[in-house]
Amino acid sequence: MKWDSILYDTKHNFVSKYGEDVVQLLNPQKGEIILDAGCGTGDLTAIIAASGAILEGIDLSKEMIDHAKEKFPGISFTVASLTEYEKPEFYDAIFSNATLHWILDKENAIEKMFENLKYGGRLVLEMGGKGNVREIISAIAKTLKKHGFGERISNRQWYFPSIGEYASLLEAHGFTVEYAVHFSRETELKSEDGIKDWIKMFGKDFFEGMDKTTVDSLLTEIQSSLFPTRFYSNKWHADYKRLRIVATKS
Ligand code: BEZ
Repeated sequence: MKWDSILYDTKHNFVSKYGEDVVQLLNPQKGEIILDAGCGTGDLTAIIAASGAILEGIDLSKEMIDHAKEKFPGISFTVASLTEYEKPEFYDAIFSNATLHWILDKENAIEKMFENLKYGGRLVLEMGGKGNVREIISAIAKTLKKHGFGERISNRQWYFPSIGEYASLLEAHGFTVEYAVHFSRETELKSEDGIKDWIKMFGKDFFEGMDKTTVDSLLTEIQSSLFPTRFYSNKWHADYKRLRIVATKS
């Protein structure tokens, strides 16, 4: 998917803001070599680097990496896929925020992360968990179906596992899971058209190749259908469910 890195930093900077808690869980130490897997435009990479750790950020999106390099020229950023990235036993820690749910080839991603960690190293992650944005997905699916675009529902590219599912996968690849939590996070969306803008940023593959007028009318209908449950306190909210895990290569 092609990313709009400016839109990501302006209207959707809650992704990095919420990730700051995950940095605390990582507890980076001076001199540690840390990989930020799916670094986006680098805001969290820079926060981790401020601890004195040596950071590398990777992301599949060239737009995101170009923007990260511009913002933080002192940090090493590379366009790379987590499922192919190889630096065996190189990192003291791997950090990943809001990325792993995009990787459908989760087995390869986990295998590579395991290989790339030193023995004793840790993986600290947050991703969408089971039930994440369920209401939004179901509103998109209903509207697409109603207008004869039902086949597009399978364009979905996300993987939202339960604790049991993801912890088992990590264990099967050699990790020891030390901490795991699944929780709801009602996420306030910044703009007046919060749901429409969220879908334009993260769910545009559902509407690939459609003309702009059709997309806008479908998005308006989806947003209206979510008004009773997703608009409150004068703001749109996404029904996020998060999965946070700390696992070690012991
Ligand atoms: C998330 O961070 O939960 C998420 C982001 C984009 C699409 C789907 C989920």
